[in-house]
Amino acid sequence: MEIRLLGPIEIVTDGSALDVGAPQQRLVLTALAADAGRLIGTESLIDRVWDEAPDGARRTLQVHLSRLRRLLDSAREDGHAPVRVLRRSGGYLLDIEPDRVDALRFRGLVERAHDRDSTDAERVKLLAAAMELWRGPPLGDLPGQWAATVRQAWQQQYLDAAQDWAIASVQIGDVAPVLAPMAALTAEHPTVESLAAAFIRALYAAGQASDALDHYIVIRRHLTERLGTDPGPQLQQLYRQILDADPALAPATGEAHPGWTPHQLPAPPPAFTGRSTELAQLDRPHDDADVVITVIDGMAGVGKTALAVEAAHRIAARYRDGQLYLDLRGYTEDAEPLEPAEALDHLLRGLGVPPAQIPAGADGRAGLYRTRLAGRRMLILLDNAASESQVASLMPGAPGCFVIATSRHQLAGLDHARRLSLDTLARSDAVTLFVRCAGVGERFCSPELLAELVELCGGLPLAIRIAAARLKSHPTWTLTHLVERLRDRKHRLAELAAGQRSVAASFDLSYRRLNPEQQNAYQLLGQHPGPDIDEHATAALLDSTPISATRILGQLMDANLLLEPAAGRYRFHDLTRAHAADTAQRDRRAS
Ligand SMILES: Nc1ncnc2c1ncn2[C@@H]1O[C@H](COP(=O)(O)OP(=O)(O)OP(=O)(O)O)[C@@H](O)[C@H]1O
Ligand SMILES: [Mg+2]
Repeated sequence: MEIRLLGPIEIVTDGSALDVGAPQQRLVLTALAADAGRLIGTESLIDRVWDEAPDGARRTLQVHLSRLRRLLDSAREDGHAPVRVLRRSGGYLLDIEPDRVDALRFRGLVERAHDRDSTDAERVKLLAAAMELWRGPPLGDLPGQWAATVRQAWQQQYLDAAQDWAIASVQIGDVAPVLAPMAALTAEHPTVESLAAAFIRALYAAGQASDALDHYIVIRRHLTERLGTDPGPQLQQLYRQILDADPALAPATGEAHPGWTPHQLPAPPPAFTGRSTELAQLDRPHDDADVVITVIDGMAGVGKTALAVEAAHRIAARYRDGQLYLDLRGYTEDAEPLEPAEALDHLLRGLGVPPAQIPAGADGRAGLYRTRLAGRRMLILLDNAASESQVASLMPGAPGCFVIATSRHQLAGLDHARRLSLDTLARSDAVTLFVRCAGVGERFCSPELLAELVELCGGLPLAIRIAAARLKSHPTWTLTHLVERLRDRKHRLAELAAGQRSVAASFDLSYRRLNPEQQNAYQLLGQHPGPDIDEHATAALLDSTPISATRILGQLMDANLLLEPAAGRYRFHDLTRAHAADTAQRDRRAS
């Protein structure tokens, strides 16, 4: 037998509910059951049943009690202790195991959930079990002041439990089950800020940041309309944290959610053009038995990142466990390349590992990273790598994942890597890119002029985009005028700068990563008048031996600052040559 108070009042026996009788009779049962096992004084009992006790209240109470005794007797179940209303000196007591009254069971579960020794996972289970006992507003439709007071207090306990359930669920990363109940509860109690905060956090943890923000707006409106107040500081702070995607909002402890699927790829580049051969190559299915990595290398601004991101979007659906993206900052203004420990920290967070569980050292992090990737199919895009070792430290340990790395270096020493050396754009693609970015109608432009323009940009996407941006931002310029400006070899690099972007600045980042010997060679080669150069001429230029000249030429090629169009013949890209010459001039001026 079970007595249910968290909803309509019921005595349930053998799975069916008994008729407890008229409201006053139900009230007497409730008054006893709410404090089952405890003695309740006769006066208190009368006060619970009547706001103003009528004459003969004691007598009426006795009648209700004897009817209840009969009812409980008839509901008696074999094998269970009988439930009895006992007369003790000065009052009455309902003799029943506390767990057989739902309200007392609710309280017991909540108390255990708040036990200091309970883990978050246990807390979630206990609170979920408590919430399940709830069947609607407690004490049904019982009349009177006492019932109203108890109803309100229990209602509050229920809201507190729901809120704690949501918070603990966020901690263990299992928020899906709380979303619908919390949505219903916050709709029912739209001005309870702590409840709203718990729901907003759960939405955010479920990856529904915009719903979380929307809910804040809804709460704010309710508070203004109903209470004439603003959200309190805690709710406001939560809102700001979500806007900032504050990492502090990640759960502090607990397991990463097994179903956590990251989608970290940046947006595909706008007006992506050409590269069909390279896209097909990246799309080629690979043998699942191998750990697979493709390295895209090429000169600054040639479109490595653009190609990698575009290709990653095209094949993303094949990697059902998600896609990770990390900028390794190989060539970033005012920033050093990411250390392995730092890079692993980013990737582990991307994999949903709570920050508190990320080991302190690089080795521990690498181990956890490979563990998390084991058996999963993920696409990992490592952008702007500085070196082989930087990429090697981030390789998964088992097959199933596909890594795409981009670098200005060739990263020739990476095992298993497929290599994709990216050249400048073919002329027709370069023209298309310019036309699309500048917003000029191709039909209205002279094909010769367009061809000359992309030639002057050396087919380099970065240069083409900058040239297009300049034309767009100067409505009085014609294509002829732009081409004339770029024809001037001396000022060409200076012309190829717009807003934050500049070809020279981008090349400078490569130059600054060279050692002094390489920098010196780069400058001297920039002053060489011929279209290309061999080892012997280089040795003479550098005043060194052919062997050491060959070594330096190889290093500059590895950094994609030099090309080797035919065996033993080296040359610059036109814009790199201009940069090398400018750098020499700049350094002469500085000394
Ligand atoms: N195929 C393309 N279609 C359209 N835009 C492109 C293409 N390739 C590159 N771009 C654009 O050219 C610019 C330079 O490209 P990107 O940043 O990809 O070069 P990168 O080789 O990664 O340079 P870095 O070595 O500096 O990292 C970007 O604005 C990019 O969007
Ligand atoms: Mg890049």
